[in-house]
Amino acid sequence: MADGLLEVQNLRKEFGGVVALDSVSLQVPAHRIVAIIGPNGAGKTTALNVIGGVYAPTAGSVRFNGVPITGRRPHQIAALGIARTFQNIQLFPGMTALENVMVGRHTRSRTGLLAAALTLPGSRREEAAIRDKCLELLEQVGLTDHASEPATDLPLGQQRLLELARALAAEPRLLLLDEPAAGLNTRETERLATLIARLRDELHLTIALVEHDMALVMDISDRVVVLDQGTKISEGPPAEVQADPKVIAAYLGEEA
Ligand SMILES: Nc1ncnc2c1ncn2[C@@H]1O[C@H](COP(=O)(O)OP(=O)(O)OP(=O)(O)O)[C@@H](O)[C@H]1O
Ligand SMILES: [Mg+2]
Repeated sequence: MADGLLEVQNLRKEFGGVVALDSVSLQVPAHRIVAIIGPNGAGKTTALNVIGGVYAPTAGSVRFNGVPITGRRPHQIAALGIARTFQNIQLFPGMTALENVMVGRHTRSRTGLLAAALTLPGSRREEAAIRDKCLELLEQVGLTDHASEPATDLPLGQQRLLELARALAAEPRLLLLDEPAAGLNTRETERLATLIARLRDELHLTIALVEHDMALVMDISDRVVVLDQGTKISEGPPAEVQADPKVIAAYLGEEA
């Protein structure tokens, strides 16, 4: 019996004739980082989208903390304590960095997301508390100096950190990160690695990390799952997976 905080069983997702996921099973144990890697088009983002409720699977199931969540809507899944970032960054344009984080916070406050988006007056004290908490999150990701800048004016690396802060604002138990290091330079990636590891070690978050940057994956993952063309081809500790001939062949095939 699997014992992950997140348990994905025999997941299948078809888009028309394309089988994006073919009977994929994986577990993410509590307080661990599980990396999901694989060549372009392997099905990594699709897996996160099915877990996050963006797509209903064609077959298979997803359980979170023992509860079946298959087919639930994204806002329902968010309310259960699953937050995410996106491969194609999805910040709210026309809002500052701080306001973007505050919207993330409102997914769990009484005022609610819609009221936040409409800037309806909530309790002023609650609003001030949310603001303080969100400034703290901006500090954690190193964006304090950019709090009042328009979010979409920030350089890409900082937009990724901002999305992470917004996801954290919901106080999730499980984080789904889709290529958080994409577009970051080496130094930014190293700082991101430290930050993500700290989320596990100090905040005890559970993290599913989709990532192409192998140095980052090897550095902070407890376990690695490898997808190729919708199928799981390998799984295990980072060093083992890195040396797996099937994995090497899949990546070489991509370059050919
Ligand atoms: N909404 C969609 N409609 C149709 N096909 C889709 C859709 N989303 C994904 N696919 C297809 O499913 C397959 C897996 O795509 P997915 O985006 O999950 O790959 P990925 O592993 O995240 O790749 P990358 O590393 O490039 O981000 C691809 O063949 C893709 O074209
Ligand atoms: Mg992807």
